[in-house]
Amino acid sequence: METDRPSGDPVLVEKLRAEIAENGPITFARFMAVALGDPERGYYAVSDARPTRSGDYLSAPELHPVFGAIIARVLDEAWRALERPDRFLVREYGAGNGRLVLDTLAGLRAIDSGLLERLRYEAVEIVERRAAMLEERLEAAGFGHVVQARGAGERPVVGCVLANEFLDALPVHRLGRSGGLLREVYVGWTDDDGGRFVDSPGGPSTPALAERLAAEGIELGEGQQAEVCLEIDSWAADMSAAVERGFAVLVDYGRRAEVLYGPARRAGTLRAYRDHRVHDDLYVAVGRQDLTAHVDFTAVERATARHGWRTLGLTSQAEFLVGAGLGQLLLGRQADPAMSIGEYTSLRASIGRLLDPLALGGFQVLVLGRGLPDGTTLAGLEFEGPR
Ligand SMILES: C[S@@+](CC[C@H](N)C(=O)[O-])C[C@H]1O[C@@H](n2cnc3c(N)ncnc32)[C@H](O)[C@@H]1O
Repeated sequence: METDRPSGDPVLVEKLRAEIAENGPITFARFMAVALGDPERGYYAVSDARPTRSGDYLSAPELHPVFGAIIARVLDEAWRALERPDRFLVREYGAGNGRLVLDTLAGLRAIDSGLLERLRYEAVEIVERRAAMLEERLEAAGFGHVVQARGAGERPVVGCVLANEFLDALPVHRLGRSGGLLREVYVGWTDDDGGRFVDSPGGPSTPALAERLAAEGIELGEGQQAEVCLEIDSWAADMSAAVERGFAVLVDYGRRAEVLYGPARRAGTLRAYRDHRVHDDLYVAVGRQDLTAHVDFTAVERATARHGWRTLGLTSQAEFLVGAGLGQLLLGRQADPAMSIGEYTSLRASIGRLLDPLALGGFQVLVLGRGLPDGTTLAGLEFEGPR
């Protein structure tokens, strides 16, 4: 029977099908790593326009430069809390097309921050050509001085790790519980219906999955589905080696483990995004749709704590932006005679979306610190609500 399901990239589909034919069903983490991260044909490699208005979803930096203007204030505050070091590294994971860093640097210039001259920037991107393009964009915007070769500069490296909608892109394993046992959902292949990927249940691919849940005090309920991202551990080691003292500001949708794996989310949080629509057919449009799962912030806190980071706060994006000065920034713009009514209206509308708990305002911001004086915090955490 032929179906009208959106087709995937034929080369990627064949690559995954052949791997399954040779070795048996693969973990969903492997499927996701190829579908999103294949260097030539994966979702991230094939388009630079996806997190934009014309793409599949709109991220906060792409929505409006005001997001970067607030991050500029956050970085300026972090730099001052560290007693204004001569070199301050911003290492951004999942930098994409550079929208966030460009707006952030423009924001530092607008507030006349002394950090602008001292800031050095490293983009971490799975799509290598995007990192090179980003350097060109920084040069063209007059910020060429911030670009620094990886690992260059004095030690200890002081600075801030930044990631917006990065951690949710890391591959996840799909788990479930049935007959009292922890099970993993693998990806298999059937030749039915002209050939398609199918769920294929089995035992856990690694003891690390059960260990992760046990360490978090989580026991899945019978029939419950959940996702676990093991790559958080290697990412935590990587970011810890890169920034030895300072902050990490991590923005994503997600929850701490007790909520993420609680009874309200029995079907897990793994979803596909295509053309601004969210759905749960994970196997269509392979390489042409985004796949994401909510971030387990407990796992992030535990993994980074092993490297000496501690949590300064976890709050909603709406609370964080307001605490970090969104209101004052809006007042300042209101008084700016150079701002047109159209620009002001767009700013107001974008702020509405950034604060809307059902839109971007519902994202979470996890702020971590390492090697900081006791009591150090950031203004963005002022309204941290109960979690
Ligand atoms: C959802 S986009 C977010 C882009 C940008 N931060 C924003 O907010 O618009 C995720 C980004 O992370 C990158 N990415 C995904 N997995 C990665 C990995 N393992 N290492 C580095 N970058 C990765 C993708 O190429 C993409 O640019």
